Amino acid sequence: MVARDAGIGYSAADMVAGMRTAVVTGAGGGLGRAIAIELAGRGYAVAVSDIDGGAAAATAALIGDAASSSVLDVREEAACRALAAAVVAEHGLLDLWVNNAGVLRTGLSWEQDEPTRASMLAINATGTINGTVAALEQMVPAGRGQVINVVSLAGIVAAPGEVTYAASKHAAMAFTLGTLFDLRRAGHREIHLSALCPDGIWTPMLEDKLDDLDAAGSFSGQLLTPEQVAREAGKLTERPRPIAIVPRWRGPVLRSFDLFPRLGLRLIPLVMWDARRKQRRYKKLIASGKWPKESG
Ligand SMILES: NC(=O)c1ccc[n+]([C@@H]2O[C@H](COP(=O)([O-])OP(=O)(O)OC[C@H]3O[C@@H](n4cnc5c(N)ncnc54)[C@H](O)[C@@H]3O)[C@@H](O)[C@H]2O)c1
Repeated sequence: MVARDAGIGYSAADMVAGMRTAVVTGAGGGLGRAIAIELAGRGYAVAVSDIDGGAAAATAALIGDAASSSVLDVREEAACRALAAAVVAEHGLLDLWVNNAGVLRTGLSWEQDEPTRASMLAINATGTINGTVAALEQMVPAGRGQVINVVSLAGIVAAPGEVTYAASKHAAMAFTLGTLFDLRRAGHREIHLSALCPDGIWTPMLEDKLDDLDAAGSFSGQLLTPEQVAREAGKLTERPRPIAIVPRWRGPVLRSFDLFPRLGLRLIPLVMWDARRKQRRYKKLIASGKWPKESG
């Protein structure tokens, strides 16, 4: 593992030959940035990418010599494939690709305009597919590698108020798990795919949604810090699992809504009332500086 400097930068002396390589999409801020930092701490040379090139460069600068940065719009399949190929050309191997880029627009699906719905599907679902396929194009011939797809709890339950987002994340979930099945069917035992499904995370994605009733579901469980979720991504690199739900207990609770939709229909007013109550509580805690207590 690469040693840490006083800050979070990694000096050239830390770089060792044969470092593992990783690509993280949407790593200009939020969870992606935290994952890039976590991976650098675990000894990966990280290719930090984002649609916002300046933000990607800022993350890479924070990490130091173990990172490079580039502009990548995950909606562009050819650009994803070019980045994967460039990492292999430079380092010889692509060990890990993290599909993290995503967008959330809340609201009633029938009131959202078509570009809003289309962009969520294009970035969250097609973007994840593009990144996965780009990574596999390099990993299948090498016979090894790992893809971590940042899904969401909205990938396992139809979250009210975030329904188009949930649809895009269900697509990402099906693609991840189904592709893993097909890899095994095709005999690829050393290529791992994981769907990382975190509860709400305190990132720019939620920072403007403390008063958004449609976003209440994101605050209904345990609000997480990006660093907490990044650590779970880091653990997946040691012990890959098909699905990692954070926190674990939320999985069975939320799955019951999909299993028993009529029960869900009856409970939804109560569930959303409780979610809104928690959203207000988090708003107060955050405003008073009582949460998050620690950033690591
Ligand atoms: N914040 C949450 O509550 C939460 C919960 C569960 C899952 N997630 C998922 O975590 C991932 C990261 O979200 P976040 O909370 O850090 O959000 P964020 O808005 O803070 O960061 C998203 C990043 O993605 C980038 N991006 C947007 N469109 C892109 C595109 N077309 N191509 C490349 N990059 C693009 C943005 O520039 C930004 O840097 C997303 O997939 C999100 O759906 C978030």
